[in-house]
Amino acid sequence: MPARPVARPPMPARAALPEIAALLKIESLTKTYKTGDKALKGVSVEVPSGQVVGLIGPSGAGKSTLIRCINRLVEPTEGTVRLGELDVTRLSRRDLRRARRRIGMIFQEYALVERLTVMENVLSGRLGYVPFWRSFMRKFPPDSVEKAFALLDRVGLGEHADKRADALSGGQRQRVGIARALEQDPELLLVDEPTASLDPKTSRQIMRLILEICRERDLPAIINIHDVVLAQDFTQRILGLRAGELVFDGPPDQLDEKALTEIYGEEDWTAMRRRASEDEDEEPMHHSERELVERLEGLS
Ligand SMILES: Nc1ncnc2c1ncn2[C@@H]1O[C@H](COP(=O)(O)OP(=O)(O)OP(=O)(O)O)[C@@H](O)[C@H]1O
Ligand SMILES: [Mg+2]
Repeated sequence: MPARPVARPPMPARAALPEIAALLKIESLTKTYKTGDKALKGVSVEVPSGQVVGLIGPSGAGKSTLIRCINRLVEPTEGTVRLGELDVTRLSRRDLRRARRRIGMIFQEYALVERLTVMENVLSGRLGYVPFWRSFMRKFPPDSVEKAFALLDRVGLGEHADKRADALSGGQRQRVGIARALEQDPELLLVDEPTASLDPKTSRQIMRLILEICRERDLPAIINIHDVVLAQDFTQRILGLRAGELVFDGPPDQLDEKALTEIYGEEDWTAMRRRASEDEDEEPMHHSERELVERLEGLS
């Protein structure tokens, strides 16, 4: 059996905005695409170590752009992104590749290599570290393989290491995506709509898994997510983007009618209402679902 990761006691509940040295510091970030679309208009935000942040906002608000500017998958037009002491926005291409190893990414569509096994997909998170010929030959150091087994065990896929990725369900595929992101020992997780292709219950399981793992590792994360209730239940802080500007930054329980209207406008967001019965065996983290549903009902 592969070794299990060391079990740590659950972390005590954190204050929503702890005042410790920021790990990720974004300053006056703007992005204007070649088409002239102003996707980000001067966004500044700091995310301290261990904080799990939900990024919400209507379609086209700039959520994916913001996440992708952090590891420069999208090149920012102006502004800076600092990760610890590192100014990511000033790095050469070569240094950027190295810096990206410090930033794990999890995608909506999982981005797995279909014909490779679960294990090979997880190990591909390691490619930045392994010399090209070894990765080409699919020869990974034994400690990487051992670690990948432990990660698969952690995300509940210990039995599936040898399956091909295309034989998995959506929830299982996302678990592989999570394990792959962790294989590179990231210091920051960027997560772009991890649950958009999943059913409500699986979505909650995946969000819970991400939150638990972040707590175990004191790993900060920015999770771009459309589902407001999921964001409230499974993140410690919410950022609301609207038309490229941050219009909300606060703890989940402060996301009230006024804030939601500010982010989504008058009509849009009430459609996010959800029946509390969808996952009755799950305990919400911040408040009762009934309370939340009543709050949303009251707004229509
Ligand atoms: N590659 C691109 N070229 C030109 N414009 C783009 C590009 N990518 C995004 N945009 C524009 O930038 C704005 C922000 O897009 P972005 O994808 O960041 O929004 P989003 O909040 O992630 O939306 P969604 O919730 O639909 O995923 C939109 O106006 C979009 O049309
Ligand atoms: Mg997006």
